[in-house]
Amino acid sequence: AKRAKIKELLKSTAFGTEVTIKGWVRTFRNSQFIAINDGSTISNIQVVVDFNNTDDALLKRITTGAALSVTGELVESLGKGQTVEIKAKQVEILGDCDAEKFPLQPKKHSLEFLREIAHLRFRTNTFNAVFKVRHALAFAVHKFFNDRGFVYMHTPIITGSDAEGAGEMFRVSTLELGNPPRTDDGAINFKEDFFGKETNLTVSGQLEAELAAMAFGEVYTFGPTFRAENSNTTRHLAEFWMIEPEVAFNDLVDNMDLAEDLLKYVIKYAMENCAEELEFLKTRLLEEEKQKPQTERSELDLLAKLNFCLDNEFERVTYTEAIEILKNSKANQKKQFKYLIEDWGADLQSEHERYLVEKHFKKPVILTDYPKDIKAFYMRQNEDGKTVRAMDILFPGIGEIVGGSQREERLELLEKRMQEMHIPAEEMYWYLDTRRFGSAPHAGFGLGFERLVLFVTGMTNIRDVIPFPRTPKNAEF
Ligand code: 4AD
Ligand code: MG
Repeated sequence: AKRAKIKELLKSTAFGTEVTIKGWVRTFRNSQFIAINDGSTISNIQVVVDFNNTDDALLKRITTGAALSVTGELVESLGKGQTVEIKAKQVEILGDCDAEKFPLQPKKHSLEFLREIAHLRFRTNTFNAVFKVRHALAFAVHKFFNDRGFVYMHTPIITGSDAEGAGEMFRVSTLELGNPPRTDDGAINFKEDFFGKETNLTVSGQLEAELAAMAFGEVYTFGPTFRAENSNTTRHLAEFWMIEPEVAFNDLVDNMDLAEDLLKYVIKYAMENCAEELEFLKTRLLEEEKQKPQTERSELDLLAKLNFCLDNEFERVTYTEAIEILKNSKANQKKQFKYLIEDWGADLQSEHERYLVEKHFKKPVILTDYPKDIKAFYMRQNEDGKTVRAMDILFPGIGEIVGGSQREERLELLEKRMQEMHIPAEEMYWYLDTRRFGSAPHAGFGLGFERLVLFVTGMTNIRDVIPFPRTPKNAEF
């Protein structure tokens, strides 16, 4: 018989029909009630076994984690909180699961424990919900851009450039580690490497996206990016996914509008298409919050937080204004910040970003016009000679979720800035050609996909929103 999905059966009223389901046992009670999950929904379906007429040897093999195929009659359930169940006619074990050795018990496990068995955590309700939301958000991103005529541009994963100029790259090489070929002056000779030059995993698809934007007008990338920054935090991954739109003829205000529209669109999409998952995650979060002291609990639940984000315009503030706010804040004056704000020019730490969002403005904030010295070489310089047309979007509980800018489209200014920042202009002739041949104002940004998933799911550790996290000293699988 054709396999029915549990998600569909739970909505069905076709009582009396014969159905077949396949899935994994969550619990087996009183030698009679099997709760089965097939991943199509968080909810299990109950299968009732007639244990008097079932072989004992078979009953023993119905253990938590075992894979089963069940054929039986769909009947109305008398049990509380469920509408349908299956009266089993035939139960077949597809794969046994030794209950003694299987690490997942029919109880709540901590996220820390589940991270230790990340290869099995897909089988829990929390990760079912998280990765369904992740999927919906990815789909929504493509839908948003497709509906607006953007072209999805695949940019290379292996590149020879450092888009952010921050030197946080993973080298890609086939040279022998212990004994690489050397030039006369002793340096590693990358001419003999696979690509005949130094290459690395991309930190951003932006520079290539700019090339395409200067022909297609509106493009976006959505792919894996890699950073060898040694920050072992709950917000950083060594491998993360980034969405990078790039639009010709846009200025910074257009760029902010686009980013705000995108964020609101995808959050709304998830709320409309993942109601069951978000309800589950909301309850999970409420339970977690109960462990905290009253004063540290969040006032809003997950859904209220998401709605709040949809209903409010993001606050748009310059870096200079933000520094004034932070300098005059109680947190700064009472030395509650780990890094005190003293002078204009310092980079903001996540504690400052979160202060602005959570304590001061109490809504998402777009900070603009940062000092040029703490931003990348490609950002458009302002008249003041000190700041650039940068924007960072800060979210509650997250900090920076988007980083972007209007790009420097004036060749001489860009070349001068690259020289100051020791960016090799000759190797980047292809990038500079966009400014040589029909240069035009343009702007774009990068949305960190996992930080978005963190926000929408209410999870707090970035390792829990990507199926296979890569962090320092951790590249399992
Ligand atoms: O601010 P970033 O470094 O900007 C860029 O890469 C630009 N090239 C984007 C552009 O203008 N096209 O990174 C953009 C976003 C950050 O705001 C953050 O959300 C995310 O990418 N991000 C990370 N997410 C997880 N782990 C990391 N190590 C991240 N580094 C950045
Ligand atoms: Mg940034």
